[in-house]
Amino acid sequence: MRLLELPIHAEIDRIIGHHIGVKPIDAQRLAWLAYLVPAGGQIVECGSFWGRSAAYILSGAKPSVRLVCIDHWPNPADFKKFERGLTSLGWPLGGKVQAIKSVSWEVNLQEEIDMLFLDSTHKYAVLEREWAAFFPLVKPGGIVAFHDYGAHTWPDVQRFVDEVAADHLEHTGTFGTVWSGVKK
Ligand SMILES: C[S@@+](CC[C@H](N)C(=O)[O-])C[C@H]1O[C@@H](n2cnc3c(N)ncnc32)[C@H](O)[C@@H]1O
Repeated sequence: MRLLELPIHAEIDRIIGHHIGVKPIDAQRLAWLAYLVPAGGQIVECGSFWGRSAAYILSGAKPSVRLVCIDHWPNPADFKKFERGLTSLGWPLGGKVQAIKSVSWEVNLQEEIDMLFLDSTHKYAVLEREWAAFFPLVKPGGIVAFHDYGAHTWPDVQRFVDEVAADHLEHTGTFGTVWSGVKK
């Protein structure tokens, strides 16, 4: 199995919307990748916006897995929508979901990461900074995923993956525009 489709996904699409954020195949791929994270693990997402990818990640994750959502949410209305959506879906902030309002690479996380999902600015310089900030925390065997790989509007994602990330990861593959691999 490479994708995970669950009944709650229709509810996510209804509450958060499917016209914004990750596309259905990308979202189902994230749910599957999150499902692979071991119990008690930690997932970190850079770029959460209204919470669509976060909700799909949570849908697949085991109950004891925690999700850290990092976004600077420059528009407070977007953060409200993020918070309301996840709360309506049964994932209020402060429980298994932690929201950190910050520029991504300035966040100083201490704990190891089982899955890292990068979906913020998609600019090469930003990806370099996020990689430097978070990749060292990813456990060997942990998952790293990038959104918009192969999307012609965001060529830096593919360039960064091909030039940098791919050397450090194995079992790599792309579903929709989610490229992922496992840390060697
Ligand atoms: C493409 S949207 C994320 C979509 C989300 N993953 C989803 O599927 O719904 C990108 C988000 O990244 C945030 N962002 C962009 N650059 C950032 C940075 N350097 N630090 C933190 N957040 C950033 C923006 O505020 C925006 O909400």
